[in-house]
Formats: sequence, C-alpha cells, structure tokens
Amino acid sequence: MEYCKNTLCYDDYYRLRQSVGWMNFSEEQTREFLKQNLYTVTAVDKSYTVAMGRLIGDGMYHMVVDVVVQPEYQKRGIGTHIVNMLIEYVEGRVPIGGRASIFLAAEKGKEGFYEKIGFKLIPHEYCGSGMRKGIQK
Ligand SMILES: CC(C)(COP(=O)(O)OP(=O)(O)OC[C@H]1O[C@@H](n2cnc3c(N)ncnc32)[C@H](O)[C@@H]1OP(=O)(O)O)[C@@H](O)C(=O)NCCC(=O)NCCS
Repeated sequence: MEYCKNTLCYDDYYRLRQSVGWMNFSEEQTREFLKQNLYTVTAVDKSYTVAMGRLIGDGMYHMVVDVVVQPEYQKRGIGTHIVNMLIEYVEGRVPIGGRASIFLAAEKGKEGFYEKIGFKLIPHEYCGSGMRKGIQK
C-alpha cells in the first residue's frame, strides 16, 4: 500500500464517499472546495485509490474530515495510518512553545476507532459538547 500526500482528486473523493453510503456534495461545490484542503492522504493499492482522509484548518485549529476506507480494505490498519499521517502533519508544523487542536465529528459508533488513535470524547472536564449547524440551499 502506498500513501500519497495531496493528490486527492474529485473522482476518487466521489467514489470513496459513495462506497460507504455517504451522500456526495454537488460536483461544482466539491471541485471548488477540494482545492482548499490543508493536507490530504490517500491510500493507493496498485494505482487504485482505496482510502482517503482530509485535514482542513489554519495551523491553530484543524478538522479531520472524510476519513473513508473502501469496505473491502477496512480493518487492515489503513484508516489508522491515514489519521496518524494527518496528525503528524499538524505536529510537524506547531512551533516550539505553540499549540494546536484537531477536531472531528465521529460517525455514530465510530468513536472507538478515533479513541484508539488518541482523540478524547467531548464533553469532558475542560470542554463542552461539540456543536454543529447544517446549511442547505
Ligand atoms: C472507520 C474507518 C475509517 C476505519 O478504518 P479501518 O482502516 O477499517 O480501521 P483500522 O483497520 O485502522 O482499525 C484500527 C482499529 O480501530 C478499530 N475500529 C475500526 N472501526 C471501529 C469502530 N467502528 N468502532 C471501534 N473500533 C473500530 C479496529 O478494530 C482496530 O482496532 P485494533 O487495532 O485493536 O484491531 C472505516 O471503517 C470506514 O471508512 N468506515 C466508513 C466511513 C466512516 O465511518 N468513516 C469515519 C468517519 S467519522
């Protein structure tokens, strides 16, 4: 398995989301905003992209989104490898004396996957609940 940085394209993004039953965004919206990732990682098996993860953010606050491993490739450590690469990207850019946060919204039932990688459930003693507002036109 090869892990590629910043090569995620529209077709693979669309297909991978579809492979796990996630609704896609419009093509126009996706093509426009996929250009604005901070960092992406894809897992490629013999030229075929089987998994992806994206990091968006500004160097202080970050969000991990679109972590998808195609069903036939799940449970082989690929998802963990991708999320760890996204974390390493952030770690590598935090200056000495600086700090940064990485957020994500786990799919229902997937919290355990992220907990194994070191993410903490919120709320906890120092932090209230995560919140979300959807916008649809
Ligand atoms: C969730 C997902 C990304 C995990 O990727 P994966 O490559 O199958 O996961 P890994 O093989 O790296 O699993 C790592 C560990 O997490 C565990 N794990 C995987 N899915 C889990 C889940 N739903 N709940 C709890 N633990 C889970 C595995 O058992 C494994 O533990 P182990 O190392 O003790 O054996 C993948 O199943 C997926 O794409 N699902 C559909 C899309 C999705 O829900 N994405 C997450 C969005 S928030």
